[in-house]
Amino acid sequence: MKGVIFDLDGVLVSTDEFHYRGWARLATEEGIPFTREDNHRQRGVSRMESLEILLKKSPKSYSGEQRLEMATRKNAYYVECLQNLTLADTLPGAREILVALRAAGIKLAVGSSSRNTPLIMEKTDLFRYFDAVADGNDITRSKPDPEVFLLAARRLGLPPEECVVVEDAEAGVEAARRAGMRVVGVGPAELGPCDLRVRNIGELTADAQTLHAGVVTFSVGGSQPDPRSVALLSAMLLQPESINSVVLPEKDLSALGQRLDSGIIYLYS
Ligand code: G6P
Ligand code: MG
Repeated sequence: MKGVIFDLDGVLVSTDEFHYRGWARLATEEGIPFTREDNHRQRGVSRMESLEILLKKSPKSYSGEQRLEMATRKNAYYVECLQNLTLADTLPGAREILVALRAAGIKLAVGSSSRNTPLIMEKTDLFRYFDAVADGNDITRSKPDPEVFLLAARRLGLPPEECVVVEDAEAGVEAARRAGMRVVGVGPAELGPCDLRVRNIGELTADAQTLHAGVVTFSVGGSQPDPRSVALLSAMLLQPESINSVVLPEKDLSALGQRLDSGIIYLYS
């Protein structure tokens, strides 16, 4: 693997609560019931499609013009919240994994449905880590369509099969799979089939010493590395020639299977 494409909202930056507040304020004004669950279904999909999810609960019908006005109103509330965004709003461990991947020679891109991507990356000083950005301003079909990830890969100059996507939304996981990319699922949500699952981005950390030795290990769950994730993620992210060793339990060898095409495998029980 030569590139990693990160979703932005909910993976690198904690903007989810701001989205929720924006939609909730609009829903209250319009007298439409709106829950956190409704908000979860809006993850990864475009602003207008998110509005459609909200309006499903309304008995009224709205003209195109009214819909546009409502989406614009919600965005104004959301952008108001984004003004307070700082470096501290990047999720724990995000910067560390970006730095480590860059040090390993992996190309990095953002692939987000959000049209506010430039503002968010500016406020959180994230541009510096990325070789390319593809966002809601560049595409006509939002996730689960693969367009944004295919564009990100093209901007990295990489074929889709050389890219891994990191996603927290079901629509995003589906988009990655349809793009022909492997996918790391982040967070507690039901995401459908992923090549690897972690609870948050902070669980993916690269060890500087082993990076230097040409071996990358990724720790899952803090200080105790989960050998299975170590093995899978190393195999997924690295060019095969840079894998010197992978440590994994014997029972997981078959799961790794074709993913690892070179390197020494150390077994432990
Ligand atoms: C992200 C969020 C979605 C949001 C979409 C569009 O993918 O996960 O919840 O609807 O971006 O965001 P925007 O900032 O363009 O309204
Ligand atoms: Mg997301």
